[in-house]
Amino acid sequence: MAVPYQITSYKQYQEAYHKSVENPEQFWADIADHFVWHKKWDRLLDWNFSEPKIEWFAGGKLNITENCLDRWVKTQPDQPAIIWESNHPDEQHRILSYKELNDKVCQFSHVLKSNGVKKGDRICIYMPMVPELAIAVLACARIGAIHSVVFGGFSAQSISDRILDAGCSLVITADGCFRGNKTIPLKSVIDEALLSCPQVERVIVLTRTGTAVSMQKGRDIWWEDEIRKVEAEGKTDFPAETMDAEDSLFILYTSGSTGKPKGVVHSCAGYMVYTNYSFLNVFQYRPGEVHFCTADIGWITGHSYIVYGPLSAGATSLMFEGIPTWPDASRFWDIVEKFRVNILYTAPTAIRSLMAFGTEPLEGKDLSSLRLLGTVGEPINEEAWVWYHNHVGKGRCEIVDTWWQTETGGIMISNLGGVTPAKPTFATLPLPGIQPMLVDEKGEIIAGGDASAGILPENTISGNLCIKFPWPSAIRTTWGDHERCRTNYFSACENLYFTGDGCLRDSNGFYRITGRVDDVLNVSGHRIGTAEVENAINMHSNVVESAVVGYPHDIKGQGIYAYVIFRGHEESEMHIRQDIVATVSRIIGAIAKPDKIQFVSGLPKTRSGKIMRRILRKIAEGETENLGDTTTLLDPSVVEEILRGRL
Ligand code: WT7
Repeated sequence: MAVPYQITSYKQYQEAYHKSVENPEQFWADIADHFVWHKKWDRLLDWNFSEPKIEWFAGGKLNITENCLDRWVKTQPDQPAIIWESNHPDEQHRILSYKELNDKVCQFSHVLKSNGVKKGDRICIYMPMVPELAIAVLACARIGAIHSVVFGGFSAQSISDRILDAGCSLVITADGCFRGNKTIPLKSVIDEALLSCPQVERVIVLTRTGTAVSMQKGRDIWWEDEIRKVEAEGKTDFPAETMDAEDSLFILYTSGSTGKPKGVVHSCAGYMVYTNYSFLNVFQYRPGEVHFCTADIGWITGHSYIVYGPLSAGATSLMFEGIPTWPDASRFWDIVEKFRVNILYTAPTAIRSLMAFGTEPLEGKDLSSLRLLGTVGEPINEEAWVWYHNHVGKGRCEIVDTWWQTETGGIMISNLGGVTPAKPTFATLPLPGIQPMLVDEKGEIIAGGDASAGILPENTISGNLCIKFPWPSAIRTTWGDHERCRTNYFSACENLYFTGDGCLRDSNGFYRITGRVDDVLNVSGHRIGTAEVENAINMHSNVVESAVVGYPHDIKGQGIYAYVIFRGHEESEMHIRQDIVATVSRIIGAIAKPDKIQFVSGLPKTRSGKIMRRILRKIAEGETENLGDTTTLLDPSVVEEILRGRL
C-alpha cells in the first residue's frame, strides 16, 4: 500500500511545501496519523527558540519500536529487516526477518531488564557493526532506556568522557571488532575507559572476534550467557514501555567549536516521524527494496538511515561491517550485486577514495539493481558527483545530495530522488516542513527558502544557513546543559536555529552548502572540533601551545593541519610528530590524527592574545600572499617564519 505522505511529483512537492509553511500543524498531524500510538497527542507543537523549547506531539504516548517492529511483524513477518554482510567476504552473511529481529530485540530487552535497566537510564553502546548493535539500540528504545552509541573508533578517554557526561549505568560492547585486515580490541578499550567511571555497574560483552578479554567479576557478563538464560526461562515477547512523545530516545555526542563534545538529545515521537518521512521521500523507497547505507551506526546517519528510518518504513536495511577498500576496492560493488541493492547511500569521501582506484574494480559487476544513489556528510565536488553518476549509476540513477546534521536528526535539504530536480554540488531544495534562511554576519536575514520569507533574490546569494521554524526531529537539548544548547544553536540569530554552515542560494532557490563557518572541521565526513584536537595535542608534555586548522584534502575533503610550539631537545622532528599523532589517537581516536604538523616558535596573535586563525588557515591552504590584514598582530614577524616553514 502506498504511503499517503510519499510525494511523487514536483507539483505535489510544491503543494506539500506550501501547505507545510501555511499550516505546519495540519501538515505534520496528517503524517503522524499513520503511526502506531498508544494515545494520540494533545498539542501538536509548542515552541519558542529563545529557551529553546521544542515539543512535538505532547501528550502523545508511543514506543518507536512498535513502529519499527511490531507493525511489520503483523503484515510482513518474513520480510528481511536486516541483511548483514561481514567484514570478511567469505563469512556467511546473515538475514534477519522482521519476525526474527523482533524476537531478538524482545529477548535482549529481557536481558536489560534482568540487569536492572529501567526507563530513563542511560546505556552506552560501543560495538562493531553487527546486527546485535541494532538489536541493542532497539532493545534500549523498547525498554525506554536512553542509548548513547559511541563510534568504535573513539579512544578510551573519549568513551569515559561520554559515559560520565551522560551518567551511563551500563555498557554494551564486544570482545573486539574487525575493520579490514585489523582487529580492534573493544573490550580492553572499555576496561581502560571504565577505570574512571565507577558508576558503571554492568558491562555486557558480545563475542565477535574471539579476542581474549578479561572479565571483571561482578561487573562483566557475556551477551550469549544472558540470552541463554532468557531462553531457558522461556521468555519471548517483551511488551514495549509506553513513552511520552517528548521522552528522550537517545543521546549522540558530536563536536562543536568548544573543546568538549556535546550530547545531542533527540526525543521519541518527533524523531520517529521525521526519520520515517524523510526516508520515504528522499529515497523514494518502494516496498521490497534493499537500502544500503554505508555509515556506521555510531553516527547519526546510521541511527536515522540504517535503523529507525528504514525499519519504521518496513524496508530491508543492509548493514556492512567492513570498509569499502578491503579486501579490495570492489567490495561495495560485490555487495550491491550479491544483495541486489536498490538504494546506495554513502559519503563523498568514500566515493573519492574509490575513484582513486579507477573504474577497473567496477568492471563486470552487475549494478543493474541500483535505482537511487545518495551522498551525505560533506559537500560533494563535481568530479566525484559525475563519477558516481556515470560509473556507479551508469547514468540512469538519480543522485540525492542530502544535507543535514546530528542536531537535525534527519535530512533537511535534498532533492527527492527523481521527483524534484537535481543539480550537481547542490543539496537543492528543503523538504516540505523545513524553512531555511540565509543570514549575514550580523544575523540579519538576507534570503528565505520560501515565499513566506518575502524575500526572493534574483541572483545567487551567500550567507550563513539558519532554519526558521521547528521540525519534528530537531535537537531538544544538549544533555545536562540546556544553556549550552541555547548559546550554540539559538543565540546567533534571533528566533532562528543556526546550523554553523555557510551556504549559497541560487536564483532557483537551490541551496549549496559550502562548509562550516565555525571552528569545526569535516574530515572524511566526520565532524571534529579544532579546539578538541588542540586540547589533545597540548596533552603532550613537550607541547607549549598549538593551533589547528583545516586545509583542502583530495580524499578526506578536509585535512588537519596543526601548528605546534614545542619545547624541544635534540629528538628528531619525525619522532616528535609520531608522538603527537599517538597522543591525539589516545585522547580522541584515530579519526582526529593531524595530517600535517608544522613546528613554529610562535603563533600569530592579536594584542588581546587571540590566535588569528584566518591567517593560519590561508597558509595551510597554500596561500602565500593575500593573508589579509596583519597589522593588528602583536608580532607580525611570526607570519614570515610560519610561511617559510609551511608544509
Ligand atoms: C555537518 C554535519 C548528517 C549526517 C552526517 C554528518 C556537513 C552534511 C552535507 C551535504 C554539504 C554536508 C555540514 C553539516 N554536511 N551533509 N550534503 N553537503 N555538507 O553529520 O557529523 O552532524 O555533521 O556535515 O557541514 O553541518 P554531522
